[in-house]
Amino acid sequence: MMRSVFAIAAAFAFGLQMVPGEAKAAGNLNLICSADVVICEMMKDRFEKEKGISVNMVRLSSGETYAKIRAEARNPKTDIWWAGTGDPHLQAASEGLTQEYKSPLLDQLQDWAKKQAESADYKTVGVYAGALGWGYNTEIVKKKGLKEAKCWADLVDPAFKGEIQMANPNSSGTAYTALASLVQIMGEDKAYEYLKQLNANVSQYTKSGSAPVKAAARGETALGIVFMHDAVAQISEGFPIKAVAPCEGTGYEIGSMSIIKGARNLDEAKQWYDWALSADTQSHMKDAKSFQLPSNKSAVVPPEAPKFEDIKLIDYDFKTYGDPAKRKELLERWDKEIGASAN
Ligand code: F6P
Repeated sequence: MMRSVFAIAAAFAFGLQMVPGEAKAAGNLNLICSADVVICEMMKDRFEKEKGISVNMVRLSSGETYAKIRAEARNPKTDIWWAGTGDPHLQAASEGLTQEYKSPLLDQLQDWAKKQAESADYKTVGVYAGALGWGYNTEIVKKKGLKEAKCWADLVDPAFKGEIQMANPNSSGTAYTALASLVQIMGEDKAYEYLKQLNANVSQYTKSGSAPVKAAARGETALGIVFMHDAVAQISEGFPIKAVAPCEGTGYEIGSMSIIKGARNLDEAKQWYDWALSADTQSHMKDAKSFQLPSNKSAVVPPEAPKFEDIKLIDYDFKTYGDPAKRKELLERWDKEIGASAN
């Protein structure tokens, strides 16, 4: 009898010691994720399981994240910013909002990802790449007798009135890439002229970059200007979407990652950084229907990923369009000439 009482007491005491030990993670990490919410959740879960570090994750578009990091510069609440288009990561780096880190995995990366890091004194790095284009709903296009848009020029046809969505370039990195690409393809004044004509056909400027093609998949709009891999994701879900690479040429993103200056959980941020650059982690991105081109040379390239060799790409000038002054100038003009008269 006495023995079993002792046994119960010992087990209870042991149990009390074990519960907090088991629940306590090896550390914490505050992450902003600027990719699609499905891949954001998957990355968080896999990292927590593999590293035992608890991740507090917020999903925000690239421009929104840049604004938040600027606003919190004196008292940073974020440790690491994973994904989102490279331009705002470069803008944050040049304003000293992110900090240098040379990952031991840098040598495993594609040249475009390493160049991104070198150009920002290692205050950011490339994690994936993807080309800009659009996706249209083939059933709506057929039903409404619309043209199968192949070129930027096709999108300003009045037949598309109210049938196009794109994101707002203030909040979305995708839309900023579109704005900067059009300026590089057409020259600045012609690009704004084009955007004004396009505005007549745009029913909505969404906050997030991939929302327009999700709306097209649901049949709410005919066409969404998005990264091609986001159109491909809808195709792989079974929606009647066609992904298009514009005939005149198009821009692309180097999706990036940066550690925030003053990060409180620096060690955990570095662990995430190295983990996110690994071939294994990047090879899993396709499981969340994330079809960008991975930056690690040994990562599996999903067969669905739009390949750069099949697309007419411009020589996107990341130095110029990743500059904070250029961003401000382009967005102020967009707000004045387009946003102010948006539907
Ligand atoms: O949905 C994924 C994705 O297109 C990424 O490739 C890109 O970096 C990010 O979304 C951009 O999102 P947003 O335009 O909302 O900033």
